[in-house]
Amino acid sequence: MRTRILPPDERGLAEAARILRDGGLVAFPTETVYGLGAVTDDAAAVARIFEAKGRPAHNPLIAHVGSLELARRIAVFDRRAEALAARFWPGPLTLVLPLADRRLVVPAVTAGLATVAVRMPAHPVALALLRRLGRPLAAPSANRSGRTSPTTAAHVLADLEGRIEAVVDAGPCPVGVESTVVDLSEPERVLLLRPGGLARPAIEAVVGPLARPRAEEPPRSPGLVGRHYAPTKPLRLDVDEVGPDEGLLAFGARVPPGARVTLNLSPSGDLGEAARNLFRMLRELDAHPEVRAIAVVPIPAEGLGEAIRDRLRRAARTDTPAV
Ligand code: TXA
Ligand code: MG
Repeated sequence: MRTRILPPDERGLAEAARILRDGGLVAFPTETVYGLGAVTDDAAAVARIFEAKGRPAHNPLIAHVGSLELARRIAVFDRRAEALAARFWPGPLTLVLPLADRRLVVPAVTAGLATVAVRMPAHPVALALLRRLGRPLAAPSANRSGRTSPTTAAHVLADLEGRIEAVVDAGPCPVGVESTVVDLSEPERVLLLRPGGLARPAIEAVVGPLARPRAEEPPRSPGLVGRHYAPTKPLRLDVDEVGPDEGLLAFGARVPPGARVTLNLSPSGDLGEAARNLFRMLRELDAHPEVRAIAVVPIPAEGLGEAIRDRLRRAARTDTPAV
């Protein structure tokens, strides 16, 4: 199969929708990262997502919707969920909620769980495609399982060329890290499963303090266990000195000298810019022939820094991936 590159216009989206209705796989831009879409009510199409990514079947997918009405058909919204959706959708926030109408979502999407992750993306191309289809799209990040998420169509092709029907190319993603995932399936607490493109204080202003799952609890997000979002080269975090065979990922004005190559996430120290550049720069250093390992300076933990640090921490882990 040759993967087609579709333009983000009327004709491109009509073709993308046709492929998806026929059970095909189409990667498309969202404001966070490129997603790999398949309709959620077609078991064969959803199975192909897992196959194309090399994703283990126990890791559930996010159902993307173009309307709140459709979201309310597939998931049960309580007052907290309504408040979050009203404030932040469309946007980089995923809600894990009790699954409602099972006919719209085959069991493979939720990995057989009683909950479903739902999100309405803010990217105009993603919204146009979802609204044209009128059906939810299961869409994990469009990378091979365990690797860094794609923020351009070229990244998608680097991982999935020949394994999917098409990619809609609308240029780089404006946020650059994946959505924040919160679990609202328990009435007493709101769990932060994955920090992401919507920073914690904004969410806490609506639903109060976010809890993190306790270490002894069984993992709720299989995709969040073990090494993940990872380049192939070793990664060292919070460095203040660099070796000559290392590639440096810097942030802000203070850049340790001596690296073979230095890429700066944001010379002005802007965390939004750093999030946008993170996965592209990791890919660049990973591909650089003279770089043996990647070193990263400390990144502040506030705002989008929480998501950036989370991704870097997972990329630096050396244990076996859960995915
Ligand atoms: O920004 C994003 O969220 C992107 C774009 C394409 O929308 N998508 C994305 O999907 O990052 P993915 O599959 O790479 O990550 C989804 C995460 C996984 O860690 C998965 O385990 C978790 O959400 N997840 C999905 N359904 C879940 C559920 N029912 N309960 C708990 N975690 C769930
Ligand atoms: Mg992913």
